[in-house]
Amino acid sequence: MEHIKRVEEEFTRQAQTFDAYAPKADDRVEDRFREALGEAAMGVILDLACGPGVVTAAVAKGAKKAVGFDVTPAMLEKARKRCAEAGLSNVEFKHGNAEALPFDNGSFDGVVTRLAIHHFADPGLVLREVARVLRPGGRLVVVDVVVSEDAAEAALQNAIENLRDPSHLRMLPATELDTLVAASGFEILDRSTWDKSREFEEWMGIANDGLRTKSLRVVARALAEEGRSAGMGLARQDGKTVFFHRWRLIAAVRS
Ligand SMILES: C[S@@+](CC[C@H](N)C(=O)[O-])C[C@H]1O[C@@H](n2cnc3c(N)ncnc32)[C@H](O)[C@@H]1O
Repeated sequence: MEHIKRVEEEFTRQAQTFDAYAPKADDRVEDRFREALGEAAMGVILDLACGPGVVTAAVAKGAKKAVGFDVTPAMLEKARKRCAEAGLSNVEFKHGNAEALPFDNGSFDGVVTRLAIHHFADPGLVLREVARVLRPGGRLVVVDVVVSEDAAEAALQNAIENLRDPSHLRMLPATELDTLVAASGFEILDRSTWDKSREFEEWMGIANDGLRTKSLRVVARALAEEGRSAGMGLARQDGKTVFFHRWRLIAAVRS
């Protein structure tokens, strides 16, 4: 199956469960993006791969205009509803593939993208598209989950992630994500990393696919009991399988 079709299929099935999870993913979402955007926060902002619009709504509050862009129509519907319920009238939504953005050169003061780079077939191509649609001096804020710098641990975590959701292609180690951003027409201004504790069953619930859960539950528990953390802190705690996601934020300026 073509990768972009797989993304759309996955996120159509996950629209409801991801919509419920997304507001809980980061309790600093508004401040985090405002700080990282700097003055661009008051301009025209693109939320690339906006999903259910939590970040779109967060950045729209201080912006002249926010545009949510995604390939999954069911997600765009959730985003529209979220922003309407928040009383935001400065938002627009557009459907499409991030590899070919339907916007003119220099259209935006800021571009933000959260939890999406690891779904892109060619993240470098997408970031070069982002550089094209940002005005010179415009701000990019990338937030994504990253894997261990150890290649074997990274491969194991990516395998687990991919079995849970095949639209997930490859989470990068932080150093590789930084290098990719810098090589795509940006100068990095700031970066930060934080860990978010997760429960395996809650995470599998979002994927919303009982068959995958059944097999992966066995694999994750066995790894945890063997002391294989997969670079994601896999462990057994109070009868549950737990782990963490390591988040990375990069604030950069279009050079
Ligand atoms: C894990 S969700 C993250 C949603 C949102 N950014 C958030 O953090 O709440 C990933 C989103 O990326 C979208 N997506 C993945 N690949 C895409 C592409 N090539 N073009 C546009 N959207 C894409 C999916 O449809 C999905 O809504």
